[in-house]
Amino acid sequence: MDFNKYISQKTKSIEISTIRHFFNIVKEVEDVISLCIGEPDFTTPAHINQGAIQALRNGKTYYTPNAGLFELREEISRYLKRRYQLTYDAESEIIVTIGASQAIDLAIRTLIDPGDEVLIPQPSFVSYSPCTILAGGRPVYVPTYPEDDFILRPNILEKYINERSKLLILPYPNNPTGAVMTQDQLNKIATVVTKNDLLVLSDEIYSELIYGTKHTAFARIQEMRNRTITINGFSKSYAMTGWRLGYIAAPKELTGQMLKIHQYNVTCAATMGQFAAIKAMKNGDKDIADMREEYDRRRMFILKSLREMGFKCFEPKGAFYVFPSIENTGISSEDFAKRLLWEGKVAVVPGNAFGKNGEGFVRMAYATSMDNLEESMKRIKAFMSKL
Ligand SMILES: Cc1ncc(COP(=O)(O)O)c(C=O)c1O
Repeated sequence: MDFNKYISQKTKSIEISTIRHFFNIVKEVEDVISLCIGEPDFTTPAHINQGAIQALRNGKTYYTPNAGLFELREEISRYLKRRYQLTYDAESEIIVTIGASQAIDLAIRTLIDPGDEVLIPQPSFVSYSPCTILAGGRPVYVPTYPEDDFILRPNILEKYINERSKLLILPYPNNPTGAVMTQDQLNKIATVVTKNDLLVLSDEIYSELIYGTKHTAFARIQEMRNRTITINGFSKSYAMTGWRLGYIAAPKELTGQMLKIHQYNVTCAATMGQFAAIKAMKNGDKDIADMREEYDRRRMFILKSLREMGFKCFEPKGAFYVFPSIENTGISSEDFAKRLLWEGKVAVVPGNAFGKNGEGFVRMAYATSMDNLEESMKRIKAFMSKL
């Protein structure tokens, strides 16, 4: 049977992420240390798990309101105020989603009509572009450069804006580069946003994983609240990837529209997870601080090791990735990653998985144990000496 003729053109036009493709190859190789995976190696703190366990014991197995448990939305509202001085109404301006992943899709689908353009700084996380295509929009890639520490430059952004531009994605702290944007730098982006009448989807999923500096929420920048959809979640900061929980905070005129799609495609996020998330928001600050401290120790170790080996590597200020340049090896990111995997037994993600101008780099996640990091650095050193 010719299944192909039944598949929509939109679906055909997107590809499985290169990261997933690479994971599948990694599975074939024995005794590999993986620095591929963008998820905490920590397990979810026990007191957070208890929230879900208690919920199940108490028979909390029903649907919640579409936007999520009101108590959780209240906690999220308090958290956003406490941590980032953001004010969002729990009743009408917050939606609990199935990870930040669904939040991204939801926001893009709510806003984008066929032909609308979405500005996506690159390198960046892999889902913005396919979500845009599935909504009928056109992704427009705005390059960021290592010499700018991978931040988005307003003058470069402006070159890619035209009358069809509708939405700007702001992916900071950034996956894969670890770049963070300061308040001053964001102020300049805000000027471009206002001048060109854009909306912004600010993906702040790594907002808690920042080292030696402070996260500035884009919605905090003057006059940006009305133009910003803030996305965040529980996966990275609370080590809760498997719970699939995230959220959107935005003006009610936007969340009201988003809720229509959310209601039809997921109804609500899983109920027991939402009870766990309440515990995370109430008592999770210490867990975050402890994990951040450990990530920071690993960050400094991996950065120092790579630089000692001669890699050019920008100091990441956020998330849990380093993004060293492999340009001087003279081989492509993909070949480098494949050879390192087969010959050096270390798995890293080729930089071009995050967009064309990630070519010449590889992403290494330091969300793995110090023992693994130490061993992987030894292996990379041995591999480089034979290259
Ligand atoms: C920048 C970024 N945004 C969103 C996500 C999705 O996270 P979640 O697990 O909440 O769906 C990820 C996951 O890797 C990410 O790196």
